[in-house]
Amino acid sequence: MALVLVTGASSGIGLEFAKQFAARGDQVVAAVRQWPKEQPREGLEVVEGADVRDAAGRHRIVQKLGSRRLDVVVHNAGVLANDALGDIRGASLEAQMAVNAFAPILLTQDLRGQLANPCKLAFVTSRMGSIADNGSGGYYGYRMSKAALNAGARSLAIDLAAQGVAVALLHPGYVRTRMTGGQGQLDPADSARLLIARIDALNAANSGTFWHANGEVLPW
Ligand SMILES: NC(=O)c1ccc[n+]([C@@H]2O[C@H](COP(=O)([O-])OP(=O)(O)OC[C@H]3O[C@@H](n4cnc5c(N)ncnc54)[C@H](OP(=O)(O)O)[C@@H]3O)[C@@H](O)[C@H]2O)c1
Repeated sequence: MALVLVTGASSGIGLEFAKQFAARGDQVVAAVRQWPKEQPREGLEVVEGADVRDAAGRHRIVQKLGSRRLDVVVHNAGVLANDALGDIRGASLEAQMAVNAFAPILLTQDLRGQLANPCKLAFVTSRMGSIADNGSGGYYGYRMSKAALNAGARSLAIDLAAQGVAVALLHPGYVRTRMTGGQGQLDPADSARLLIARIDALNAANSGTFWHANGEVLPW
């Protein structure tokens, strides 16, 4: 039984990650700002007030884990704004950088003493963070923040390799969640199932790779 931490586990893909890891018998710490009242908590260890933007929110996660060691961390929490040229606001860019790029790196730093050897870190990024793949423009803050996350996660793959940590950068597909206004090609349950298969296949030799949920290797 693995000890798994999922951030942003209150909705969409993160909620499905938490449910599916728990359903297969893993011990799941579900980090959320607020647990949704309508969702059962059975099989999950919920940490509320875990706003990953704030040091205090990240500290709640660290405290909840105590002396336990994590086998898998899924950095899933994310936000998206549709920043269009002519109406790009600094606050919007900063908010997306804070959650999508800075928080997963800072939380990993906070958790260094609580990572098992071996351990797997999965960063839920987006192919919208791929510079080579950007053929449609727009979405300034989202694209910039996911590209920055990719850069940071690649450095973690190098810096933590000696400590037995393998890193995956994962694009979940176009998924019907609150973030996409319910639009997309996949349900969150199907995306999470594919992503968990990628995490299961992650190892020291393929660490630092940017994958689509379907297994395709994506360009940076
Ligand atoms: N859906 C897609 O097609 C798609 C495509 C590419 C990548 N992604 C990525 O997939 C991940 C999950 O997104 P989703 O589609 O499942 O969207 P979602 O349903 O909107 O879920 C986003 C989750 O992130 C949490 N979150 C946001 N800000 C947070 C913060 N400051 N601290 C802690 N948690 C925070 C939300 O919590 P609250 O409930 O508290 O707001 C929510 O649980 C994101 O990283 C997203 O960028 C999604």
